[in-house]
Amino acid sequence: MKKLESFLKQIQNAKILDVGTGNGNFIRIITALVDDYSEIIGIDLLDGVIEGCKESFEDSRINFFKMDALNMDFEEGTFDLVCLSNSLHHLEEVEDMIREMERVLKPGGALIFCEMMSNNLTKRQKSHLLIHHFAAEIDRERGSYHGDTFTNNEILEILNEKSILTIKDAWDLTYPKRDSNSEEEIEWLSETIDRVKEGIKDIERKKYYEKKADKIKKHINKYGFDSATQLMVVLK
Ligand SMILES: C[S@@+](CC[C@H](N)C(=O)[O-])C[C@H]1O[C@@H](n2cnc3c(N)ncnc32)[C@H](O)[C@@H]1O
Repeated sequence: MKKLESFLKQIQNAKILDVGTGNGNFIRIITALVDDYSEIIGIDLLDGVIEGCKESFEDSRINFFKMDALNMDFEEGTFDLVCLSNSLHHLEEVEDMIREMERVLKPGGALIFCEMMSNNLTKRQKSHLLIHHFAAEIDRERGSYHGDTFTNNEILEILNEKSILTIKDAWDLTYPKRDSNSEEEIEWLSETIDRVKEGIKDIERKKYYEKKADKIKKHINKYGFDSATQLMVVLK
């Protein structure tokens, strides 16, 4: 977090865009580290998440809009910083999205990507990956685009290939590691796994996912859970 903090502190009075903001998780990370921004805008395709964000953020400098990131309403060169967090593996049109992010970026501004990594994880972090890939497989089966997460090198390769900007910095962002998890946390994870598979109605497929779910729960019970490491990448 220190590295992200010092990166953010270099840009005074920044106007920041968070693309595919979801529940505004990445905006929460930014605002926990710095307060010297002039405006932060979060956009997403989903009405529900935008309404939720509007209710839960109280800072008048932070605003949310329902908007397609492939075709944004903003003028060229509007933002000092344009962020995309944990969304690369959800996108079919990665290149189009990056082009649009570049269009709304001020000359000299930075794109910042934060993406969960699939490699170099501890056994505890592997629990996070297993749950994530389980949910992704079910999303795909139900017709949504949701790939497995990428390795750090794959993330760098995608950005190198798809962006006209240059990778200036990249580093691992890890969350504080714990020695153990509470019973409530393990129970909550188990319920999350069960909730994710509720969407599958076909009896045979249900059995397949139940087996997978049991294996994941066993892994979590044996090793515990930590959030996976994220790769932060800055392009200019
Ligand atoms: C996995 S979530 C990530 C949410 C958040 N950035 C985070 O780090 O937790 C991906 C989000 O991208 C949004 N999204 C996908 N395609 C989009 C598009 N074309 N325009 C705007 N939002 C989009 C989805 O609706 C979803 O909320």
